[in-house]
Amino acid sequence: MEKKIMLTGDRPTGKLHIGHYFGSLKNRVKMQNEVDECYILVADVQALTDNFNNPEKVRKNVREVVIDYLSVGIDPEKATIYLQSMIPEVAELTVFYSNLVTIARLERNPTVKTEIAQKKEIFGESVTYGFLGYPVSQAADITAFDATIVPVGEDQLPLIEQCREIVRKFNSIYGEILREPEAYLSQTKRIKGLDGNEKMGKSLGNAIYLSDSEEEITSKVMSAVTDPNRIRKDDKGNPEVCMVAYYHNLFSSKDEYETACKECKEGCRGCVACKKQLAKNISEYLRPIREKRKYYEEHPELVDEILIKGTEKAREKAKNVMLKVKEAMKLDYFKE
Ligand code: TRP
Repeated sequence: MEKKIMLTGDRPTGKLHIGHYFGSLKNRVKMQNEVDECYILVADVQALTDNFNNPEKVRKNVREVVIDYLSVGIDPEKATIYLQSMIPEVAELTVFYSNLVTIARLERNPTVKTEIAQKKEIFGESVTYGFLGYPVSQAADITAFDATIVPVGEDQLPLIEQCREIVRKFNSIYGEILREPEAYLSQTKRIKGLDGNEKMGKSLGNAIYLSDSEEEITSKVMSAVTDPNRIRKDDKGNPEVCMVAYYHNLFSSKDEYETACKECKEGCRGCVACKKQLAKNISEYLRPIREKRKYYEEHPELVDEILIKGTEKAREKAKNVMLKVKEAMKLDYFKE
């Protein structure tokens, strides 16, 4: 039977928040038990494609992201956590694959297109070669590990599709060497921000971080957007447009959630009390994650050791795949 190899990762540009938790981390924790091999990369090289002028930021967030992984229950015995920049095979593959993809095709990639539009302050009117080409490097990330399953959010689907195209092109020219990966969408959709925005994001200032203290959680929940038409406590509210109700559904018991909605609709529950209850529940929910996080923050040497070991293991795997690729491309020089 074909081995199930899972690979995924994040750009280290900030700490991870509850949107990441529901959108991907929770799913990875489950999936690490269901696959034969599991790789999670900290995509520092990719992070530089839109943060080339801010290397400090990328470097600082590498350890934060690894701590977030460990805190939510990614088990380094099951999942190999590694640093992208320390796998030179990935950079080599990126160069080889760059012949198999046209500039026009990259420019048409919907994810790249959206991001370029959002990053005018970095790129101005003209995007860098590195950023335009990051789907090629992401294809290298995936194929360097023979990955078959790539759990990602919806926004990443065009990147996986582009990777599959590169694989097919490679195989048609050099022989059936690479495996075509499949995207695996997590069950939970992306979760909304405290302000009701469809997306929770660090740049949007509407996120609750896994590292937030109880006080930070409380003050953020107090600022969450509620039904704008509900002005007095006994006005009848509409939980459908209230972010507090939305998060109750995620973090509170079914009973608490249903009671909150019912009382809100009847106008017999105040928003302040409802928010306090929610803040307490979120805080409790995140407590074990927060405590583990604190432990790793106090033991940075453990975090480094996990990352170093993971990177060594990852490197061995990528070297093996590289041997096959070079042989197929007639680049296997100097062999006896
Ligand atoms: N593009 C992903 C993101 O922005 C990060 C990433 C880099 C990735 N390489 C990958 C995801 C390989 C899955 C597989 O979050």
